[in-house]
Amino acid sequence: MTTEPDGQVPRRNPINRALGGWQPAAVVMAANKLDFFTAIGEEAVTAEEVASRCGTPPRPTRVLLNACVALDILEKEGEVYRNSPEALQALVRGKSTFMGDGIAHQHDLWQAWGRLHEAVRNNRRVGERYNLTEVGDVHRNFILAMHDRARLDAPFLAETLDLTGRHQLFDAGGGPGTYSIYLVKRYPGLRAIVFDLPQTIEIAKEVIAEFGMSDLIATRAGDYFKDDFGQGNDVVLLSAILHSMSPERSRGLLAKAYDSLVSVGDVVVHEGLIDDEGTSPMRAVMFSLNMLVNTGEGQSYSGSEIMGLMEEVGFTNPRVVRLPEPARTSLVIATKP
Ligand SMILES: C[S@@+](CC[C@H](N)C(=O)[O-])C[C@H]1O[C@@H](n2cnc3c(N)ncnc32)[C@H](O)[C@@H]1O
Repeated sequence: MTTEPDGQVPRRNPINRALGGWQPAAVVMAANKLDFFTAIGEEAVTAEEVASRCGTPPRPTRVLLNACVALDILEKEGEVYRNSPEALQALVRGKSTFMGDGIAHQHDLWQAWGRLHEAVRNNRRVGERYNLTEVGDVHRNFILAMHDRARLDAPFLAETLDLTGRHQLFDAGGGPGTYSIYLVKRYPGLRAIVFDLPQTIEIAKEVIAEFGMSDLIATRAGDYFKDDFGQGNDVVLLSAILHSMSPERSRGLLAKAYDSLVSVGDVVVHEGLIDDEGTSPMRAVMFSLNMLVNTGEGQSYSGSEIMGLMEEVGFTNPRVVRLPEPARTSLVIATKP
């Protein structure tokens, strides 16, 4: 980018900037869905070989591989393609840094974004498939995407949220159970209950067993709109749950958390918060639209909105605690007196 004589960096046309992203994103999502990056792995491979490994026709395979080269995601030398260092780390299945499940989940969500205008016009979701547990692949992509994302944040969350001396954590809508796993590992004496829909609990059991934590983390299948949160909880965690629902329903879940907690127990909401204006940070603004197209009633919440809901159901001392970088999320914590 050139610098103006007065030293100011010229402003890039924001319309061009906004429109520049969807085609490159489609390239990565398509190549990920077709498993090109895993098919290449650590090797140097021709387009014909990738096509044969992925069961795709050679000509369009080459066109898509070339687009990945143009985006610097693959490297090309003569007729052979290699993964870039970043693709090797994030796009090849089997590594702990694999982001492909998350990209597959973005791909599922992306269909609805094409109808964003309809969601705004009708104030209704247009994503029919979001969180539909009967659509096996979509649901599994979603839950494993949560696991990929949570594995990055969970060590910071476990350091920030001091659960010393606590015994029972209830992880409502706990998904794959990732946060419970890291918290129970970090705090001796702590046990957790991961509560979620039956189809999710099946995946959570696999993940918890993979981490060797099945003795310390129980699972309970249910519906947080219909079932209670049990009794005797020291801590109720609601991680990435409230953003999918209206303030009224959020208040309902906070009230269930309150009823289930012992005195001086804490409710902990973990979210990527939006500012009070609703215009920053960019990821929270975009996420709010993601919730509009896919859930209709959900939104990114600000810290003050969540603290207000907590106080309405009787919690005291609400506070916002940011997780340290590189995590970009926050905890909103309040105490049952
Ligand atoms: C965005 S994920 C968050 C998962 C996890 N708490 C995390 O932060 O990684 C939302 C979770 O809520 C669960 N869920 C959705 N509707 C539910 C319901 N009615 N009752 C219980 N869990 C539900 C989903 O299965 C999913 O695991």
